[in-house]
Amino acid sequence: MTQLTRRHFTAALGASALTLPSLRAARASDGFVALRASAAKAQLLATGEPQTDVWAYSKGVPGPILRVRQGERLKVRFFNDLPQASTVHWHGIRIDNAMDGVAGLTQDAVPAGKSFDYDFVAPDAGTYWYHPHSRTWEQLARGLYGMLIVEEREPLDFDLDLPLVIDDWRLTEQGAIHEPSFGAMMDKSHAGRLGNWVTVNGTSGPIFKVPTNGLVRLRLANASNARVLRLKTANMNGQIIALDGQPVSNPPNDGDVVALAPSQRVDIAVRAPSEPNSTLELMVQGGDRDIAVATLQTSGPAVEKREQPALPLNPLPALARLPDALQVELRMEGGAMGTMQEAKFNGKVLAIRELVRAGQAWAFNGVSGRTEDPLFRARRGQTVVVNMVNDTAWPHAMHFHGHHVQVIEKNGKPVQNAPWRDTELMERGEKIKVAFPAENVGKWMLHCHMLEHQAAGMATWFEVA
Ligand code: C2O
Ligand code: CU
Repeated sequence: MTQLTRRHFTAALGASALTLPSLRAARASDGFVALRASAAKAQLLATGEPQTDVWAYSKGVPGPILRVRQGERLKVRFFNDLPQASTVHWHGIRIDNAMDGVAGLTQDAVPAGKSFDYDFVAPDAGTYWYHPHSRTWEQLARGLYGMLIVEEREPLDFDLDLPLVIDDWRLTEQGAIHEPSFGAMMDKSHAGRLGNWVTVNGTSGPIFKVPTNGLVRLRLANASNARVLRLKTANMNGQIIALDGQPVSNPPNDGDVVALAPSQRVDIAVRAPSEPNSTLELMVQGGDRDIAVATLQTSGPAVEKREQPALPLNPLPALARLPDALQVELRMEGGAMGTMQEAKFNGKVLAIRELVRAGQAWAFNGVSGRTEDPLFRARRGQTVVVNMVNDTAWPHAMHFHGHHVQVIEKNGKPVQNAPWRDTELMERGEKIKVAFPAENVGKWMLHCHMLEHQAAGMATWFEVA
């Protein structure tokens, strides 16, 4: 039996419609790759059905996969051909603050017709992604997102590296993006903009060829505005090897279901079946039944079985001296079926009725939305413990910029060796304490990644000086 390498395999498949373009080769002489946001069309519905008018990076949904080697510079020249201002945020990267892409905090939004140069080093290998950080609730929902893959210094031996971005769209019968519901208070105050159409790499129910008997590194990202994807991995016999980019040695085991909240990533090592033309389905838990969102199909002669490589750990700083840590309280309040009576918004205390009229529905510590002053200031090197209390009737995906955090206590019980994550899913009523070393100087957002919640008040920031 012939042994196929990844290169042979990719060549044998030819240019499949599902192969995402990679920007590695397309560099200008100054080393910048171009990333252009503009209107485009995408075949979100089945072939033969109408196309959808979207906004996209370099005409693709998802945008091109950006690949860079760990420790090397990524230089991206962003062109904004959208009808509104935008930015690019490099989600999960412990990045130079000036390159974090947050409109109004780390840079001015890039006006329509203008460009901006992003230039940074990615210190950690793993699976990351990029998206706008300006009217994110609209721009992401219209299709602006892509994968950012930071490759290990030494290439790892998988037979196939398969990045899959899952999205949950709200489409009309004709396949158009449902525009009247953008910014709807119903979504803001409840679960966020949930969709009615799931795509994987911009396609509905795609089939991906994988080498027979091959070892596949699945890189899954959730680009939904608000939907928590509960992935069933049992039938794939997969092993979780990384969460939010960071390798994990003791993956959480919740009965073979992996909850992937908006913006989170999971890398799964999957051993493909040993017979050609066998299939494995990627299942997501639906309301009353599970839905297959993508299929892996073995193709070609069986490759020789290889050992699963171990992911090297990233150079995250260690958590030191917890007893001296800066303790921060963060009470999350508001939303439908909540008890919040009032909150401060733009410096004024508003009763819930007035808040809603102002488009707000949530608060952190009684304050709705980003303010002049940060939630806290930390010294560089200081350990920070954030005691987050979800005093609402809804789950939230709490995202820290520029840092990865570790849960040290959940509902009053200590937690050991939790994975390092940039986004923590909190179920309703849950209390978690997270800790992290504040090692990255600058102004960093801390917000719910359910984008309607973010827009309606669940957003703050902290500073490391
Ligand atoms: Cu993925 Cu503040 O963002
Ligand atoms: Cu939320």
